[in-house]
Amino acid sequence: MSIKFLLNGETVELTEDTPTVTLLDWLRETRAMTGTKEGCNEGDCGACTVMVTDDSGARALNACILFLPQLHGKAVRTVEGFSGPDGALHPVQEAMVEHHGSQCGFCTPGFIGSMVTAHRNGRSDFDDALAGNLCRCTGYAPIIRAAEAASHAKIPDWVQDIPPEVGASALSPETSDELAAWYEANPNGTLIAGATDVGLWVTKQLKELTDIAFLHRCRDLQHIVDHGDHLRIGAGVTMAQLLPVLKEHHPSYAELVRRYGSEQVRQAATLGGNIANGSPIGDNPPALIALGATLHLRKGARRRDMPIEEFFIQYGKQDREAGEFVESITIPKNASALRCYKLSKRFDQDISAVCGCFNIEVSNGAVTNARIAYGGMAGTPMRAAKAEKALIGQAWSDENMTKAAEAMADDFTPLTDMRASAAYRLLTAQNMLRRYFAEASGLKVSVLEVKA
Ligand SMILES: Cc1cc2nc3c(=O)[nH]c(=O)nc-3n(C[C@H](O)[C@H](O)[C@H](O)COP(=O)(O)OP(=O)(O)OC[C@H]3O[C@@H](n4cnc5c(N)ncnc54)[C@H](O)[C@@H]3O)c2cc1C
Ligand code: FES
Ligand code: FES
Repeated sequence: MSIKFLLNGETVELTEDTPTVTLLDWLRETRAMTGTKEGCNEGDCGACTVMVTDDSGARALNACILFLPQLHGKAVRTVEGFSGPDGALHPVQEAMVEHHGSQCGFCTPGFIGSMVTAHRNGRSDFDDALAGNLCRCTGYAPIIRAAEAASHAKIPDWVQDIPPEVGASALSPETSDELAAWYEANPNGTLIAGATDVGLWVTKQLKELTDIAFLHRCRDLQHIVDHGDHLRIGAGVTMAQLLPVLKEHHPSYAELVRRYGSEQVRQAATLGGNIANGSPIGDNPPALIALGATLHLRKGARRRDMPIEEFFIQYGKQDREAGEFVESITIPKNASALRCYKLSKRFDQDISAVCGCFNIEVSNGAVTNARIAYGGMAGTPMRAAKAEKALIGQAWSDENMTKAAEAMADDFTPLTDMRASAAYRLLTAQNMLRRYFAEASGLKVSVLEVKA
């Protein structure tokens, strides 16, 4: 293994065989740089947030689920590198002092990582940009005030890193052709895209991974191509890259993605990873199923396509051969009837208990087509076939919508787990259809707008 990156402006070259050492462990244990904190070690708290710059810009990422090879050709800034070479504080650090944004200080390096990155990117949506950083003693108001106060200050030169030029790394194919060849030859190998799932296999399940290919240097998997009436989205597109495109074409789906993990998670997590992991509670699959998306798989030179719902066979089993990977996903560009509803215990930074996505077309008062898909209701993301059947060809009325909601009881036998009971899941899934009907009737249904 040979990787090269900048750490707080200095070149680091590593040749040890450490493909699944996280940046956080390496900083704290090998470099004795303990400013970056370990809270949850699973991407949830943001205490380990660092700024990572590559040729597409600067991103806030969680160092606890970021493997060293993912840094090849990038520049990292930790809290030790946010102040100037002469010790001058960064404007967000000054503002944190001024506005009393820190008490015990444990969360502060991570907040500073997110704030410096947001400042560098000229962002002012601080509620979203900082939702992945948890503070258990100061409270968020002073921190948000500090971020606002610093927002107009000049970006200091010292955080404007220029990533190093690098050659190929053995672990990271540079194109999807190289990846296809590697994976066909190593069908039992592990692909790592954003590592927001795989990172936890290492930090929480203590799995030892061998035969790894990192996907982040396959630039040709990171494009979103406009084909007129549809968009083809590369498997390596992150949730953060997808968000502005969805805002333009599918605003309700975009709202779902805005609540996907946190800024740090969205900057790492890829669409391909969220599909390939086959999770029954992934947020993209229900939206993609409701949209009638097509999944494109590739093994070596052979490609095949399928309606995305057919990919999910049963819990833990997908229609994917050894050595075959997700290459891209095609979605229609227009689907004005699409609505996506996420139910989770917290608004931000939480996995769905139930996620319902609806795309019901109505013409002359009658339902002409219905695609209803849920996450969290079965062992896979799944369509509510009986509810759809109860609607198609019928008048789009309160009465028929209620009949469809009742039919849904035969579609699913949900589980009871720590997120929700089976009965609660079914009732809320049925209520989402009611919510869709209410929204289609012009009522306000956003959880941020409805007041008791
Ligand atoms: C704090 C936190 C919050 C989260 N919140 C959410 C949330 O709100 N909603 C949600 O849906 N998920 C959430 N997740 C889960 C996770 O972010 C997603 O499942 C993510 O999309 C996985 O993408 P990745 O690129 O990180 O995949 P990785 O972790 O790199 O890989 C995941 C799996 O997919 C495989 N894989 C990756 N790319 C490909 C490919 N192109 N072809 C074939 N196989 C591939 C890997 O081998 C692995 O099995 C959260 C995770 C964390 C840590
Ligand atoms: S330590 Fe909590 S997100 Fe990394
Ligand atoms: S200052 Fe104590 S956790 Fe934030």
